[in-house]
Amino acid sequence: MIFVTGGAGFIGSNFVLASLAQGEESVINFDKLTYAGNLNNLLSVQQDSRHIFVQGDICDTAQVAALLAEYQPRAIVHFAAESHVDRSIYGPGEFIQTNINGTFSLLEAARAYWSGLPKAQQEAFRFLHVSTDEVYGSLEKDDAPFTEQHVYAPNSPYSASKAASDHLVRAYHHTYGLPTLTTNCSNNYGPYHFPEKLIPLMINNALAGKSLPIYGDGQQVRDWLYVGDHCAAIHRVLAQGKLGETYNIGGWNEKTNLEVVHALCDLLDQMAPKATGSYRSQITTVQDRPGHDRRYAIDAKKIQSELGWMPVETFETGLRKTVQWYLDNQAWVQAVQSGAYLEWIAHNYQQRGHKE
Ligand code: NAD
Ligand code: TYD
Repeated sequence: MIFVTGGAGFIGSNFVLASLAQGEESVINFDKLTYAGNLNNLLSVQQDSRHIFVQGDICDTAQVAALLAEYQPRAIVHFAAESHVDRSIYGPGEFIQTNINGTFSLLEAARAYWSGLPKAQQEAFRFLHVSTDEVYGSLEKDDAPFTEQHVYAPNSPYSASKAASDHLVRAYHHTYGLPTLTTNCSNNYGPYHFPEKLIPLMINNALAGKSLPIYGDGQQVRDWLYVGDHCAAIHRVLAQGKLGETYNIGGWNEKTNLEVVHALCDLLDQMAPKATGSYRSQITTVQDRPGHDRRYAIDAKKIQSELGWMPVETFETGLRKTVQWYLDNQAWVQAVQSGAYLEWIAHNYQQRGHKE
């Protein structure tokens, strides 16, 4: 049995579904169900007795401790976090609470549980912490991609809070010997991605006939990885990763934001053509994000050479699958556009001088 935090979010739910599809092992899915958590992501395993969903907060050490004692998992895979950079700029408090204090609470519960295990189970136990490439800060155009040795230089409240959580995980390994693994991954995309993030927001707005808001000059670069590839990498690190090590995970797919949005428009022009011409005509530029990191790029050679993992999807195949998923799952998209979602969209984009 494995204990997953944040398994009702974008990557966590993809990971839970992939885990249940590939083996006999049960999953305890522990999630607070914030605005980003969505049980509709897990409808296909609702009747599966191997999926045990528990609503709760990782800051609640006692609740986590009780669940660990009851279910005796062989691993904790920690996804739960506040994950949206723009939200961290308007309201950093929740990021400090969940990403830093929450990870600390979870580590404390994990340490107490692990310390009390019989030796063989203690040796087999793993705490896998899912983190981001944003902890490394921003690269210049010609800088080499981030390796695992790159100095931490987080620039947003989100990335600073994730960096702090990475350091806590490192310290729990170094000081207490907790068998930890950390992964730092680039931008994910794919099914169940909440439409506040670039790719699902653009698909959603395009289909709704709304404008496609590019922050600043749109020349910021991100490395994009299909979420299924990220989940496979996490499974690989969990099975074979060296204790206390970190692994960078990336798709070898550096794109400017404008390239991404152009690619999306071109796919939509093929897959859901509109009578009035190309979706590209809906692109507009809006005020930039404060402190916007210019470029992220991942050197994923360590996980390739040591653990034999490489992404399966190219940007073209992954993006096509993603667009198709959103076209096929409009009911899911409608359901996540609650009042709270609309409030966020109004708040974020009106401040940027953006008109629909
Ligand atoms: P998400 O925002 O879609 O989901 C986060 C989940 O965590 C939600 O289900 C939410 O309800 C839950 N959660 C939040 N606070 C909680 C708390 N206090 N207790 C329990 N559950 C709580 O995030 P995501 O995009 O799926 O990201 C998952 C993890 O991967 C995060 O740690 C993030 O930093 C990391 N990551 C994300 C990306 C990306 O591109 N999305 C890239 C690299 C790393
Ligand atoms: P995002 O999906 O928020 O991920 P992150 O900031 O964690 O990389 O944004 C990806 C890029 O897209 C980032 O450079 C900001 C940009 N962006 C826009 O240009 N317009 C938008 O409406 C959004 C949400 C993001």
